[in-house]
Amino acid sequence: ILAAVAAAGLLGSGAAASANCDDGERVVKFSHVVAAKGHPKGEAAEKLAARVNDEMNGVLCMEVYPNTTLYDDDKVMEALLLGDVQLAAPSLSKFEAYTLKYRLFDLPFLFQDLGAVERFVNSDQGKDLLLVMDDVGLTGLGYWSSGLKQFSASKPLLLPTDADGLKFRIQTSDVAEAMIGAMGANAQKLAFSEVYGALQTGVVDGQENTWSNIYTQKFFEVQDGITETNHQLLAYLLVTSQEFLDSLDDDTRTQFLAIVDAVTAEANASVAEIEAGNRQRIADTGEEIRELDPEQRAAWVAAMKPVWAKFTDDIGQDLIDAAVAANG
Ligand code: LMR
Repeated sequence: ILAAVAAAGLLGSGAAASANCDDGERVVKFSHVVAAKGHPKGEAAEKLAARVNDEMNGVLCMEVYPNTTLYDDDKVMEALLLGDVQLAAPSLSKFEAYTLKYRLFDLPFLFQDLGAVERFVNSDQGKDLLLVMDDVGLTGLGYWSSGLKQFSASKPLLLPTDADGLKFRIQTSDVAEAMIGAMGANAQKLAFSEVYGALQTGVVDGQENTWSNIYTQKFFEVQDGITETNHQLLAYLLVTSQEFLDSLDDDTRTQFLAIVDAVTAEANASVAEIEAGNRQRIADTGEEIRELDPEQRAAWVAAMKPVWAKFTDDIGQDLIDAAVAANG
């Protein structure tokens, strides 16, 4: 039975290949790496599945696989192209094998807050960027924000020079690698599911992530404290394959995309609240959260901003200008 299910998936068959779905329903598998509950992406994925399964009952059947139970973020892109899954939402930092344009979103201190992100992604330039991977058969359906990133390490970090010689886990992003280098520290690219263990065993000394990831993955338990740098955006591309979209009849596709748009808007509107809640939950454990004074913050900006110049050609100055302008 397992082999038959796998074969049906590989062939992109329209037949149901799941115990939870009814005969004749098209199975839509959504694989992601974070917690299902209490996390902007996990909650958005659940909401999307609930609405699709309710409003498109009998036509589509969505199943969500959180917490790297199906694929990590590297493998999920291949799985999308093979038709083994139909939806994923990897961070924009993880598309380097497919496009260099998303390096924009990784530029440190680019967006002042999530409002600026929202303005940029809803602009013409932001919408055009959904389609930059058309040539490889991947299509962006929307941007799901997750928050700004904070640093944590095995020792207090108040200035970038405090990170000198430390090793930080990063996502598979050359911008992040350059940024960590600019702090005089070393970067190690690791899958998300490996981060807690790497921090615990000292394979790396620190990491950078959102309040929601630091809380739901319990990174704070194995770190000295968190420094509130807000230095970089974490946002996801809700992505599918062109082949999957083309395989839906017009009415099904229209209804599905309308639900995606509504859930995307709703999810982005609740990110700030979820992030603030998880920041508070970390503080409630007694973990030290270090806020930066204006001078300290200026030192982080001065250390990291020079990396922009290295990636301007990949991204395009026009796009960088448009993103900066979204700060208002
Ligand atoms: C990470 O690898 O740190 C993040 O991309 C994980 C996630 O999906 O939030």
